[in-house]
Amino acid sequence: MSCERQGHPDLPYNCAFEALAKKLHIKTYGCQMNAYDSARMADLLAGIGYVAVEQAEDADLIILNTCHIREKAAEKVYSELGRLRHLKQRPASDGGPVLLAVAGCVAQAEGAELISRAPFVDVVVGPQSYQHLPELVARVHRATGSVLETEFPAEAKFDSLPDASVEPGACTAFLTVQEGCDRFCTFCVVPYTRGAEYSRPVAEVMKEARRYVACGVREITLLGQNVNSYHGQAPDGREWRLSRLIRALAEIDELERIRYLTSHPSDHDDDLISAHGDVPQLMPYLHLPVQAGSDRILRAMNRRHCANDYRRLIDRLRAARPDIALSSDFIVGFPGERDDDFSETMRLVRDVGFAQAYSFKFSARPGTPAADLPDVPKHVKDERLACLQQLLDQQQIAFNQACIGRELPILLDRAGRKPGQLVGRSPYMQAVHLDAAPALLGSVTLARIIGASANSLSGAPASGGGA
Ligand code: SAH
Ligand code: SF4
Ligand code: F3S
Repeated sequence: MSCERQGHPDLPYNCAFEALAKKLHIKTYGCQMNAYDSARMADLLAGIGYVAVEQAEDADLIILNTCHIREKAAEKVYSELGRLRHLKQRPASDGGPVLLAVAGCVAQAEGAELISRAPFVDVVVGPQSYQHLPELVARVHRATGSVLETEFPAEAKFDSLPDASVEPGACTAFLTVQEGCDRFCTFCVVPYTRGAEYSRPVAEVMKEARRYVACGVREITLLGQNVNSYHGQAPDGREWRLSRLIRALAEIDELERIRYLTSHPSDHDDDLISAHGDVPQLMPYLHLPVQAGSDRILRAMNRRHCANDYRRLIDRLRAARPDIALSSDFIVGFPGERDDDFSETMRLVRDVGFAQAYSFKFSARPGTPAADLPDVPKHVKDERLACLQQLLDQQQIAFNQACIGRELPILLDRAGRKPGQLVGRSPYMQAVHLDAAPALLGSVTLARIIGASANSLSGAPASGGGA
C-alpha cells in the first residue's frame, strides 16, 4: 500500500515524471471540510498526471476551493480571481491554456452568476460534484467557454473518489464522515451549498481510518457539517451513531487520538456524552457552537435548543469528563438582537467558560430566511463583537495559564521556528512549543507546561516523557 499521492498510473513516479507533469495549485478557504475536499481533489487529479505546486504562478491548473458562509469570505474569491486572471495569458507546460477553476460553496451557491461575473473562469464545480474534475478539465480542453457542474448528492462523490492519500510525515488527518445539513438555521447557507445530510457507511470510514494509521497518522478528526448527527450504515445493515463509530475507531492499534467537528447541541446523544468518559482516545476538547445566549434569538435562528439546554449539556459532558475543554461559535447582531439579548450571550459565556471560541458579526446571506429581516446597525454589531471577544480572549488566556505546571501529552506534529524545537498539540488543541529530539516528530510525548500566552503554550520534557 502506498501512502503518498500517486502520479499517473501508467507513468513511473520519479523526477523525470515531476518535470513532465502538469502542475496543480489549490487554494483553500473556509472550513476543515474544504481542506479535506482539496486533498481529495489533488488525489483525483494526480490520477491524470497533476502534481501539486506551492505557487499559483507555477501552475497549469489553479483551483480556488471557496467558502460562502459570510459575505466577506465570498467576496475574497472575486478579488483573488481578479489577481489570478493575468496568469491565464501564459501557456501551460503542455502548451495549452492555464486553467482556472472555482470549486466549493461559492461555486455551488453562485454557479452561472459566477461565470457571468468572471467569464474567464474555466470550470465551476460544486462540493458534491468535484469527483468529475478530471472529466471537466478534459471538456474545457475540447471546448470553448466555461464548464459548470453543481450536482448533488454526496454519495455519488464518495463512491467515485480514489483512496485518500496522506501528506508525507503527517501524523494528523481529517476524515469526512458526514456531509450536508438538514437543520436550516435561518442565517446559514450550508444546507443550500452542501445539500441534505449524508453519512458515509461505517466500512468506508473504517477503511480510510486504517489506511491513515498505516501511513503514520496518530490523530484523526472526524468531520461533518453536523457530525454528531452521523448515522452511517454498518456492515450488518444497522445504523451506527457517531459514538459507536468512535468506539470502533478506538480499537485501531496506534490510533492515539480521535476528535470530531462540528457538532450541533441538539444532536449530542447519551452515548456520545458517555464516550467522553470511557474512550481514552477521544480527546477532552469539544467544539460545540451555541451561536447566542438569548432564547428569543435562538428561536429566531431556528436552533431548536434554548440556552439552558446548552448549559445542561455542558454540565453532563463535564460530569462524564471533568477536564473537557469547550470551544464555540457565536454570531452577534442577528436581526432583532437587542441589548438584553446580547447580555444573555455574555451571561452564557461567563457561566460556561470557554477555552477557545470564534465569534462573527451576522452577515446576511442571499437565499436564507434571516437575510430578509432588518439588520442591526453596523456600529452596534462592532461594539458587541468587541465586547464578546474581550471576554472570550480573557477566558482563553485564563485557560492557557491554568495549564502551567501540568504535565500534558503532546502530539508533536511539526518543526518549530527555533532550532531544536518541535511544536505539537495538547489534548485541548493548544499549540505547545517544546525542545525535543527530531526523532519524536509524529509521536505523543509528555511535557510539563512552563509558559502560556494567549495563543500557545511552552513546555519542557516531563520526567519520563522521553523528550
Ligand atoms: N455546522 C456548524 C456551523 C457551520 S458554519 C453548526 O451547526 O454550528 C460555522 C460558523 O459560521 C457557524 O457556527 C456560525 O457561527 C458562523 N456563521 C454561519 N452563518 C453565518 C452568517 N450568516 N453570519 C455570520 N456568521 C455565520
Ligand atoms: Fe448551518 Fe450548522 Fe445550522 Fe446546519 S446546523 S444550518 S451547518 S449552522
Ligand atoms: Fe464555508 Fe462551505 Fe465550509 S460555506 S464553512 S466552506 S461548508
